[in-house]
Amino acid sequence: MKELLITIDGPAGAGKTTVSRALADRLGYRYIDTGALYRAVALAAKSRQIDPGDDAALQQLCSELNLEFREINGEQRLFSNGQDVTDYIRTPEVTMLASAVSARPVVRDYLLGLQRSLGARKAAVVEGRDMGTVVFPDADVKFFLSASTEARALRRYEELRQKSKIAPRREDVERDMRQRDKNDSSRKVAPLKAAEDAIVIDSTQLTVDAVVDLMVTHILK
Ligand code: DC
Repeated sequence: MKELLITIDGPAGAGKTTVSRALADRLGYRYIDTGALYRAVALAAKSRQIDPGDDAALQQLCSELNLEFREINGEQRLFSNGQDVTDYIRTPEVTMLASAVSARPVVRDYLLGLQRSLGARKAAVVEGRDMGTVVFPDADVKFFLSASTEARALRRYEELRQKSKIAPRREDVERDMRQRDKNDSSRKVAPLKAAEDAIVIDSTQLTVDAVVDLMVTHILK
């Protein structure tokens, strides 16, 4: 089979990460998580106490930032200026900050080139919000994965509950998710939306395997 570039966009909690990883495994492709890049910018902004609305400071920050994925023991880790930040970019605080910095054109411009260079080799599944619309408009196959807000909030709640020692409150998780949906869909630059030529899959009632099967069927068409 010809090596393809496959994009998966969609809102938080739709199952993009799990599905993208599983699809990449199934195809023997690389998996690229572009949300992690926005999160790394947010973490760097937090550590320098940069206000997410301060474009000049964000631009300066980006110009000094070197983000790089490295495969370590079969696991993909993200390095920011040589430091492994993988375990620090998923906290609720960095998550909200990532949503805020991702609305800033200076940050999107900086990450655009990096994302394109990561996808240039093809044979990759690239996950994000604007992969099919802005970053890779010529991708070979585009998916838009969605699910009801309740289902997405429940999944995120279960994930956080398993990962963190202190259980989050379900209503807080759902509130943050609604806020993030609003930020991501209403921002002026590259808002979250399905590309016109994307295959839309609603995962509310589907298992991960069922979604991946469905995707493979489309890819082989
Ligand atoms: O997918 P995620 O939750 O890790 O993404 C973190 C934030 O980054 C999210 O609020 C949306 C933003 N993002 C984006 O704007 N564009 C992308 N391609 C990926 C993520």
